[in-house]
Amino acid sequence: MVAPVVVLCLELVVALHLVLRRRRGYSSTSGQPERKRRAAMRPSLMRSASQVLRRRRGYSSTSGQPERKVAILGAAGGIGQPLSLLMKLNPLVSSLSLYDIAGTPGVAADVSHINAPAQVKGFMGDDQLGEALEGSDIVIIPAGVPRKPGMTRDDLFNINAGIVKNLCTAIAKYCPNALVNMISNPVNSTVPIAAEVFKKAGTYDEKKLFGVTTLDVVRAKTFYAGKANVPVTDVNVPVVGGHAGITILPLFSQATPATNALSDEDIKALTKRTQDGGTEVVEAKAGKGSATLSMAYAGAVFANACLKGLNGVPDVVECSFVQSTVTELPFFASKVKLGKNGVEEVLGLGQLSDFEKEGLENLKGELKASIEKGIKFANA
Ligand code: NAD
Ligand code: LMR
Repeated sequence: MVAPVVVLCLELVVALHLVLRRRRGYSSTSGQPERKRRAAMRPSLMRSASQVLRRRRGYSSTSGQPERKVAILGAAGGIGQPLSLLMKLNPLVSSLSLYDIAGTPGVAADVSHINAPAQVKGFMGDDQLGEALEGSDIVIIPAGVPRKPGMTRDDLFNINAGIVKNLCTAIAKYCPNALVNMISNPVNSTVPIAAEVFKKAGTYDEKKLFGVTTLDVVRAKTFYAGKANVPVTDVNVPVVGGHAGITILPLFSQATPATNALSDEDIKALTKRTQDGGTEVVEAKAGKGSATLSMAYAGAVFANACLKGLNGVPDVVECSFVQSTVTELPFFASKVKLGKNGVEEVLGLGQLSDFEKEGLENLKGELKASIEKGIKFANA
């Protein structure tokens, strides 16, 4: 008991000494009376000393947060590149691993020049996937093909299911404890595929697998704010169900700030626009892909929430498509409380309007079929 205390005191003295030496050069410039200046320095000295100690114990030097490694698979793509930028800017990230089958050396070199703390490394091709993943706390997956006009998300299944299966096999091997943020479509099927791959590998933890549905929430907030004429930054709207067409169910009856200004027709139109938000972008891009910038933003918001949860920040809640008992379906998007192990609690749906109750019943058939399709593929 005594020895560790002595070591701690010695470490503290060494740290204070280092900090004092570093600060000596500044003392002549402050112009404050010497006693007052020294008193003002004491709390910040203690903070700096504790930073020196934390650095020695694997905590990040600048923020006092634990070291966190985030890997992005598909980092050279339309979503991957702006998402890499946003994660580089996130002060909770200490190591950023950018993986793709091509193009990552350039993206990594580019992003690494930004003067933010995260250390950036690029990895390319199967041979480097293991190294890219090792030690990751969070793996974000935007790898795969996007839609063109006229396609459904399910039309992407044939290509993306195989990509996701291979990447998840590698995750099970190299970073089985990481939180997985699945962006690749069709999310309603790729999340069940990932779950089956992890089950087969013996690494499945339902608390650590997330379908990223944040873009639906982002859109619902934006469209609601515009229609209700309220400040968009104040708005919250839960979006439940899944991530395709009618399986996307925004709960505008629970939107805050509440408003009486919207008619039933307005709510129907807002719901439809949220459900068709992805298609709106696909058509506007006219063959050049689907949402990338808004998705990168949404992916960064969700990853940040996961990081905060891992770091022990209380009451972090986001909607996500997770293993669930909220309905009879095995996976379902709803509000989720995030904690040190990923999902801390899957929250219920709350009070629904009649329109939302009807939407909930209508979505179950399609969502069930997409989930079963993913499970069947993974076990074939
Ligand atoms: P993109 O084609 O621009 O980029 C995809 C990237 O994945 C490419 O760089 C490609 O090289 C890479 N890739 C392909 N196979 C890979 C593999 N085996 N390992 C690693 N990387 C691989 O596409 P995008 O616009 O970035 O979209 C990516 C995916 O995200 C699509 O499936 C799209 O439908 C989906 N998406 C989901 C949401 C959502 O809300 N969840 C929103 C938008 C897009
Ligand atoms: C979206 O919602 O924007 C994504 O799922 C991409 C798509 O194909 O619509």
